[in-house]
Amino acid sequence: MKIGILGSGNVGGTLGERWAALGHHVCFASREPQKLADLLKRAGPNARAAGNEEAVPWADVVVVALPWSAVKTVLESLNLNGKIVLDCVNPLLPDLSGLALGTTTSAGEQVAQWASGAKVVKIFNTTGSNNMADPNYNGRPATMFYCGDDAHAKETARSLASDLGFDPVDAGPLSNARFLEPLAGLWVWLAHAGGMGRNIAFSLMKRT
Ligand SMILES: NC(=O)c1ccc[n+]([C@@H]2O[C@H](COP(=O)([O-])OP(=O)(O)OC[C@H]3O[C@@H](n4cnc5c(N)ncnc54)[C@H](OP(=O)(O)O)[C@@H]3O)[C@@H](O)[C@H]2O)c1
Repeated sequence: MKIGILGSGNVGGTLGERWAALGHHVCFASREPQKLADLLKRAGPNARAAGNEEAVPWADVVVVALPWSAVKTVLESLNLNGKIVLDCVNPLLPDLSGLALGTTTSAGEQVAQWASGAKVVKIFNTTGSNNMADPNYNGRPATMFYCGDDAHAKETARSLASDLGFDPVDAGPLSNARFLEPLAGLWVWLAHAGGMGRNIAFSLMKRT
């Protein structure tokens, strides 16, 4: 799959590095692609770096791993019509004490509005980038919740999460990003203010 990554930092860099190692083709988009030399070296021959305007038309799937403050401007500057967009963004307040919006909308729904015509799936927001590097906990995969309104886009998201070793869980329509974003806030609180550290992940149990 051809995956373009908007925001090649902790999240975008980690996801892209792993997908490239697994055989996907990755284009890390950056405002300064030349500064991604170390990331490209780690990601290997399936990865390259470019500006947003080059990465997006090339990609089948576009990952949004930008700071909340940058998302509207970046998405509205691009043509994402028809693209599968994986939204990893959490609309965190700068001091991580809460979310900048919620309950009656979500960053996921805002992303769908700004990325006009895109098929948006909310995913990879409810755990730390360290778990994207390694979602295995003593032989058990961490859960990865995802939600969206397009069945094909959701299947693509599920498959890409499964490739990384997550246990993907379909969490319904995109409006359920209203639940997934506060869950991310809980992970951030537990990991940082709560003192548990970043080696924690959610796991959904199911009685059979
Ligand atoms: N960190 C985590 O563990 C984690 C986990 C789940 C979800 N998230 C969410 O994922 C998103 C990305 O988080 P992150 O930790 O990967 O962030 P990050 O390391 O700061 O990376 C974000 C990247 O966005 C790019 N960018 C483009 N426009 C920008 C602007 N105006 N200001 C700042 N950066 C800009 C920067 O790349 P260039 O400078 O190369 O353009 C930067 O490397 C956030 O919404 C966050 O809430 C984070």
